[in-house]
Amino acid sequence: MTIASFIQPQGMLPDHYRNLERTEMENRIREIKGKLGDKLFIPCHHYQKDEVVQFADSIGDSLQLAQVAAANKKAEHIVFCGVHFMAETADMLTTDDQVVYLPDMRAGCSMADMADIYQTEEAWVELQKLFGDTLIPLTYVNSTAAIKAFTGRNGGACVTSSNAKKMVEWAFTQKERLFFLPDQHLGRNTAYELGIPLEQMAIWNPIIGKLEYEGNVEDIKVVLWKGHCSVHEGFTTTNVKEVREKYPNMTIIVHPECSREVVEVSDMNGSTKFIVDTINAAPSGSAWAIGTEMNLVKRIIAEHPDKHIISLNENMCPCLTMNRIDLPHLLWALELIENGDEGNIIKVTPEVTEEAILSLNRMLSLA
Ligand code: 13P
Ligand code: SF4
Repeated sequence: MTIASFIQPQGMLPDHYRNLERTEMENRIREIKGKLGDKLFIPCHHYQKDEVVQFADSIGDSLQLAQVAAANKKAEHIVFCGVHFMAETADMLTTDDQVVYLPDMRAGCSMADMADIYQTEEAWVELQKLFGDTLIPLTYVNSTAAIKAFTGRNGGACVTSSNAKKMVEWAFTQKERLFFLPDQHLGRNTAYELGIPLEQMAIWNPIIGKLEYEGNVEDIKVVLWKGHCSVHEGFTTTNVKEVREKYPNMTIIVHPECSREVVEVSDMNGSTKFIVDTINAAPSGSAWAIGTEMNLVKRIIAEHPDKHIISLNENMCPCLTMNRIDLPHLLWALELIENGDEGNIIKVTPEVTEEAILSLNRMLSLA
């Protein structure tokens, strides 16, 4: 152990990485990648910065990245450029010999943090009192491993924004009612598009530990956890109105983490992959306003100079936690591996993995 590692707070980027030139960092990353070859794998979420994405071995949305992590049997070191829950998922889907690293341990997801396991267990007890054995839990992959384990042991499954419809349909073949967490918007948008009226959806408020619903509880088909993505909640119906006024021919496409009101007045909605694929397939000269994370929107704009593309909200900022992964952190993670130092490792306990994997596998077998 070096003297610097005694002084440096645990899990924090050592200061000297901040003073490196960009090209120096890029060259070192290339060098380490070359040296480690197939032993190293760098999956990257679409919302990552370009400076990181250039080193990705695979770029994708949450579902694609879960699938590539599960399929990769060669890499000994998986440096996950995304957020904490994605790295946890990769750890659970890979073998015990494969180690998953998160370049910045502070790269969490505010939505995943909105569903705490203790609140969830409490909610489940209350909901069982109300509905008995008629409820199945479904958790968005944007949740902690503990929530995935809760879902797995109660017969439920994970969903991503790419397969939410399929998974909600499956859930209704299992039970009469659905408990969807932690994103109320993805749950509401998906259930609504499958024909469930808004009046049959209730909200579970974890702060006060109560159901928010005006009506007869017998009518409830879906219970939505009161969580949201602070990035996607930033798109409003006013943004849609303004774009429509300024660019009447523009098609508005949004992520289903946006509110029901925004999805309602937009033209299309779908996962990150759906948005990327739709714009790739769009004809030259077409015009688009996109309601999703800003790093991705900027990349799409740069990749399609032949199309007129804007963000649905030009003042939107990137997902701040995704943005924590940058060149200094990526280089640091790779140098830790190169030096055989243990650090930034994401390891889910075997007990949690055993139950969480049930919910992940139920999803992956249907995806
Ligand atoms: P997808 O990658 O499933 O579209 O989800 C977006 C997201 O917010 C990931 O954090
Ligand atoms: Fe979480 Fe939203 Fe960021 Fe995705 S965009 S990681 S849901 S905070």
